[in-house]
Amino acid sequence: MPDSKFTVPEQELLKQKEYNELVKTVLSSRFSPEKPKAFVHTYGCQGNVADGEKLKGMLWEMGFDFCQSPENADLVLYNTCAIREHAEDRVFGNVGALKPFKKKNPDMLIVLCGCMTQQQCVADKFKSSYPFVDIVFGTHVAHRLPEFIYRRLCLGKRVYETADSDGNIVEGLPVKRDGAFRAWVPVMYGCNNFCSYCIVPYVRGRERSRDFDTVVNEVRDLVAAGYKEINLLGQNVNSYNKDLTGDKQFPALLRAINSLEGEFIIRFMTSHPRDCTRELIEAMADCKKVAKHLHLPVQSGNNRVLKEMNRHYDREKYLSLIDYAYELMPELSITSDIIVGFPGETYEEFCDTLSLIEKVKYTSLFTFIFSPRKGTRAYDMPDPVSRQEKGVWFKQLTDLQEKIAGERTAGMKGRVYRVLVEEKAKPDGFLSGRTQGNVIIEFEGDESLIGGFADVIVTNPKTWVVYGELV
Ligand code: 5AD
Ligand code: SF4
Repeated sequence: MPDSKFTVPEQELLKQKEYNELVKTVLSSRFSPEKPKAFVHTYGCQGNVADGEKLKGMLWEMGFDFCQSPENADLVLYNTCAIREHAEDRVFGNVGALKPFKKKNPDMLIVLCGCMTQQQCVADKFKSSYPFVDIVFGTHVAHRLPEFIYRRLCLGKRVYETADSDGNIVEGLPVKRDGAFRAWVPVMYGCNNFCSYCIVPYVRGRERSRDFDTVVNEVRDLVAAGYKEINLLGQNVNSYNKDLTGDKQFPALLRAINSLEGEFIIRFMTSHPRDCTRELIEAMADCKKVAKHLHLPVQSGNNRVLKEMNRHYDREKYLSLIDYAYELMPELSITSDIIVGFPGETYEEFCDTLSLIEKVKYTSLFTFIFSPRKGTRAYDMPDPVSRQEKGVWFKQLTDLQEKIAGERTAGMKGRVYRVLVEEKAKPDGFLSGRTQGNVIIEFEGDESLIGGFADVIVTNPKTWVVYGELV
């Protein structure tokens, strides 16, 4: 793999392998013939989930097995998210709840990492107010987990490693995937967009892309190992290899992966409308294995607000992309993220978001009330509209989307969809899968179908779940 300035040198990884062996020896003498148990929980986006699978991979190699609750774990690791205040509050609460477990078992190791702890102020808070937390580290040094555990276990020191950095690319880490047929494959890391409300560029570093062939080979291996859904991930996948030629950029990557042998489906997220090109839409339309689902967060339908958000596109450009996408793929399912109550947004401006939603006819939306994030530009903007008022707007938005989603799913009645069967749904015991467009379908069938594709005819569409029968 060609080195980029972001690539972590092999020597550094070899050093971590040595720490891995040291930790393994200590743990096996302490726990043998049992294995120590780790409880790992990831908060937030799929990028974090992908990181979590690598953290689990490293723990597995150190000799840990995994358990389903923190209570009797020997190690608890929370891989945190900083996107909104609510996400952080949950982590603070859940970490606080570990205190009695640690009291019962003082050897329990408590490890915190991810976007939240990349912020110095948060790491400092854990240092001063949560003395029972053993190891705290940020997003740029996650591959050094073996070293951190060694330092705590063998040298008895609490660990705080949150130095800021432009970020790196670490290849070759072990991965313990949570699923047997759905795989997360990061293609790029970081973000350069600095949307004025968003903490991500501060905690995830600069945009950097993984090597093209390395990604294609990883997907080939995953498909050979039986994975049926490949999710290509990046904060802004359209920026993939932006600095290289077109034959190495994201549309070319989609085409290369699409041409691999085997029956599988390709999904990707997230696309930024600023960089979403006609070439990407054409590649989606051409590639049979690419799900006809585009997650294209608009955030707001009002041009002044979009400008204040530093989004670098306007409503007209966004709608023209949507028109082109529907023209090439009339069956396309589009989803989006929306922020309600950005500082200074007026009700009239919010209504532009409503009218855009009516126009686009999204399949579903991820909707958020603006949450001020310290360090971002929007944190200091005057924000006169009350939380309560924003709540009223929010409800108006979700009601409208519910109506649109209901109309869309009603149109699915009598049609056949090929779905990847994912699980037995609770509580009705039906099987559950998703259409290419990411609509959940439930139907009766044998559990042996889980992990494969099935054709299902929709018989009874509801707004958020449609019911069907195997054909
Ligand atoms: N407040 C509310 N929502 C936010 N998002 C990002 N930052 C904030 C914030 N400060 C939302 C955006 C983004 C999604 C992942 O989270 O809609 O697309
Ligand atoms: Fe945040 Fe904007 Fe980057 Fe998305 S594109 S991660 S919203 S800064």
